[in-house]
Order: sequence, then structure tokens, then C-alpha cells
Amino acid sequence: MIKFIISSLSIYEKIIKNKYLARQVSFDLDNINEIKSEDTFFEAIRQVRLPNGTFKTTINNRFHDLDKEFLPLLNVEKTYSIHDIGTSDGITAVNLIDGLDIKDISYDFSISDKFSDIYLYKKGLLKYFIDAEDNILFADLGGIMFNQYLSNRFFLSKFLGKFLPQKAHNNIENKKTVLLINPRTKDCINKNKLNFFNYDLFNPSSNPGTFDIVRCMNLLNPRLFSEDLLRKGIKNIFESVKNDGLMVIGRTNPRTGENYATVYQKSDEKLKPILKVNGGNEIDALMSQVVNINE
Ligand SMILES: C[S@@+](CC[C@H](N)C(=O)[O-])C[C@H]1O[C@@H](n2cnc3c(N)ncnc32)[C@H](O)[C@@H]1O
Repeated sequence: MIKFIISSLSIYEKIIKNKYLARQVSFDLDNINEIKSEDTFFEAIRQVRLPNGTFKTTINNRFHDLDKEFLPLLNVEKTYSIHDIGTSDGITAVNLIDGLDIKDISYDFSISDKFSDIYLYKKGLLKYFIDAEDNILFADLGGIMFNQYLSNRFFLSKFLGKFLPQKAHNNIENKKTVLLINPRTKDCINKNKLNFFNYDLFNPSSNPGTFDIVRCMNLLNPRLFSEDLLRKGIKNIFESVKNDGLMVIGRTNPRTGENYATVYQKSDEKLKPILKVNGGNEIDALMSQVVNINE
């Protein structure tokens, strides 16, 4: 089957009202700035799969259970420097900000992602969409998607995707940048409530010991990355946290929406789990290979 790319926002919004049809189509990300509705925005970026196997999937209030247990750990008299890594469109950071504001907790909040910008360019009849490392994500030929990363259900689009080169030339002129940041997140950035920067979790932090809280949800996934890479990511997070600071690591169960997360406190180069939500995260054993964990 073919996956179709819909350029008209009004037609796309009609199609995605039906859950089955929503999975058969993608929105033309060239027009993402036209989207005003959050639900449409989530739907439009949900299906973007990156070459390292991660998706842009995120959703409003997806950490409701985690935030409910995490926020009471914080002290109203302190100002927290916070970093949310691999934040996607940033909406879950906005949710945390809402919780901090309600509790009157002060913060200096940064969000980052390696792939918040994607780029597009036209060559002949094809429109190419590429990531920050010039990997070709997919192409669009008059509304037909060419995408080797699709599931076998879209065998024709997947087959066509295999004819695309893996990489784009790195000197493409007239490449357009598309920012996959939610309108509500953009509003927070414009009001200086949030600061965004590009960051690859697997590169060492340039500012060790900077943050009181570092959160990394739905990225350190053993199904997607080698143990070596995961250890690197854990070490980088650990080093970016201040002594006495907190690390929040976990994953959302896509079926139930529950979050399996652990909050650790750093102290004297060790970590102490101080909160386990729904039994805690799945990478505890791996964490203890990188850092001393004091149960
Ligand atoms: C599944 S989303 C999770 C978004 C959000 N944290 C949440 O849980 O709702 C994974 C995000 O990680 C980002 N990502 C993938 N590889 C990354 C890397 N090496 N460094 C930083 N971010 C990365 C992707 O661009 C994507 O936005």
C-alpha cells in the first residue's frame, strides 16, 4: 500500500478525525506552520521516524502520573535549573512548567533535542525531507511518500523509499528549515519561560554540573541503542547534574500510557533512587554499571 502526503490542512484535519484513516496519511511538514491545533500538531509529527529508530512521538500531559509524584519533591524556596533532553515538540516541558507555576516553584528551564529541525529541498519532481545529519528521512512525489523506514503495511512506499540515497549532499542550496516545535512551546520560548538548544545526548555535556534537574524520557531505550551508547547517554546526564541534583529517567508504556520512571538524587558521585513511579525505569541495571547506585 501507498502512504499519501496531504498538503491541505483542512483536508488533513478531516481525515484524521477517523483513527484508521489517520494512520494511512501524513501531513506535508512543509506546511506545519499553518497548524494551530495541538492535536493536529501531535498527529503530524507522531509518524516522523528518524534514522536512529526514534520517533518524534509525544503527547500533551503524557507524564501526568510522574509529574504528580515528582512535583511534591521540590522545594518552593529554591530556583531550579532544569534540562529536558530529547523533548520533541516540547509539550511535556510545558506541562511541567504549568505544574511548577501552580506550586509557585521558580525555574530556569531549558529543553533540547537533536532533531527539532528538519530540512527540505526540491530536486526535480521530488521533495526531500532530511535530518540534521543530512540523512534522507523520506521524499514526496506529488503526494506519494517514498520512505524506507515505513512498516511493511506500506510496502509500495517502502519499496520506493529504498531507491532514495541514504544521505543528501551537505552543500544543498535553498534548503528550508522546518521547526517541529509545538505552538504552545514556541509561545513559552517567546515569553522567555523556556530556552531551546540543539543537543545530542550521546555527546558529552559542554557544561558539567550545570543542572538541578535533568529529565530524559522515552529516549534511553534498550531496543533502539546499543548498551555502549546507552551507557554514554547515562554518563552524560549524570555529569550534567549538580551535586544534590535530580535525574528523571523513564519510558511511557504506549498501550497503557503509564510511565515507568525513576528519580535519582546525585550525591558524592553516587545516585540514590528517591522515587520509583510504577515500579521505576527498565534500565536500572545498566545505570548501575555506569554510576554507583545507593539503594
Ligand atoms: C519519543 S520522542 C520523546 C519525546 C519526549 N521526551 C516524550 O517523552 O514525550 C524521542 C525524541 O528524542 C529525540 N532524539 C533522538 N535521538 C536523540 C539524541 N541522540 N539526542 C537527543 N535527542 C534525540 C528525537 O528527535 C525525539 O524528539
